[in-house]
Amino acid sequence: MRVDVMTALVSFERVFEVLDLEPLVREAPDPVDLPDQAVSVDLDDVTFRYPSAAEVSLASLEQGAGDRLGGSDVLRGVTFHVGPGSLVALVGPSGAGKTTITSLVARLYDPTSGTVRLGGVDLREASNRSLREVVGMVTQEAQLFHDTIRANLSYARPEATDAELWEALRAAQVATLVESLPEGLDTVVGDRGHRLSGGEKQRLAIARLLLKGPGLVILDEATAHLDSESEVAVQRALDSALAGRTALVIAHRLSTVRGADLILVVDEGRIVEQGRHSELLAAGGLYAELYRTQFSEQPTPAAG
Ligand SMILES: Nc1ncnc2c1ncn2[C@@H]1O[C@H](COP(=O)(O)OP(=O)(O)OP(=O)(O)O)[C@@H](O)[C@H]1O
Ligand SMILES: [Mg+2]
Repeated sequence: MRVDVMTALVSFERVFEVLDLEPLVREAPDPVDLPDQAVSVDLDDVTFRYPSAAEVSLASLEQGAGDRLGGSDVLRGVTFHVGPGSLVALVGPSGAGKTTITSLVARLYDPTSGTVRLGGVDLREASNRSLREVVGMVTQEAQLFHDTIRANLSYARPEATDAELWEALRAAQVATLVESLPEGLDTVVGDRGHRLSGGEKQRLAIARLLLKGPGLVILDEATAHLDSESEVAVQRALDSALAGRTALVIAHRLSTVRGADLILVVDEGRIVEQGRHSELLAAGGLYAELYRTQFSEQPTPAAG
C-alpha cells in the first residue's frame, strides 16, 4: 500500500506540473474577433527569439533538454504588408526564418518585440477561436491521423456532408485516388493504415483546408520530390485553394513565385528584398541568385 501511495504521489506531482505550466501564448481578457474573410497581414518591426528550453519544458519530464540554448534573435526588424486576397511567396536560404515568420502569423508564438496584425487586429488582442477560424495551415510534411479519410477531413468541419467532402477532394485533385480505394472515404490511412505518398497526403491536407475555408492560408510547399504529373495536380489544387483568400506560401516551385503578387526574400532573419518576380530578377540581388541556383532547373509552365 505504502509503495503504491508513494508512486501515486509522484505521478500527481507531474500531473500538477503540467497543469501549472504557463502557456507561452495567452488570450487577452477581452479578446476581439478577427474578421471572418480574406484578411490583411502586417508585421511591424518584428524581432523574435525562440524561448529557451527552460521556458517551455517541464524539468522532470525532460532530461538533457537543458543544454539546448535559447539562442539569438531569429528575426530582426521584419516589416511587411500583405493586402487582403494577395498571394505572397516567401523565399530564402535554409534557416533564414521563413517558417518562423509563418509561425508568428498563426500565433504559435508571440514576437519578442514588434506587432503582428491580421485584418488590422493585434494578435495579442485577438480571440483564439476567431484566429483558428481565420488561419488554415498546410505544412510541408502533412500529418494524417490513423483513422479514416472521412475522419481526417471532417474534423475541419464536422457538419460537412459526403457531397461536400467529395467536392473538396475533387478540387484538391485527390478524388480519383480516394475512389480507387476499396473502402473509399472509409479507408484507414496513416502509418499503420493505407500508406499515401507525400504529394497525396499534401493534397488531402489541401482538401481539408478547402472544407474549412479559412480567410488566410499558410502553406509550406513540398520540396521537389513530386513527379511532373502530381506537380500539375498540386498546382491545380492550389489554384482553387488560394482563390479569394490571402495566402502566405513558402515557395519551392518556380510557378508559385512567378504567380505571386509579392515576393519576400528572407535572409538571416531579415527581409532583404521585396517585389515581383521581374523586378527582383532585374535588381540582380539575392533573389536573382536564388533564382539561378534553386528555380532555374525547373521546367517553365506554359501559362507562366
Ligand atoms: N523551435 C526552435 N527553437 C530554437 N530555434 C529554432 C527553432 N526552430 C527554428 N529555429 C532556428 O531559427 C532559425 C530559422 O529557422 P526557420 O525554420 O524559420 O528557417 P527556414 O527559413 O524555414 O528554413 P528551411 O528553408 O530550411 O525550412 C534557424 O536558425 C533555426 O535553427
Ligand atoms: Mg522552413
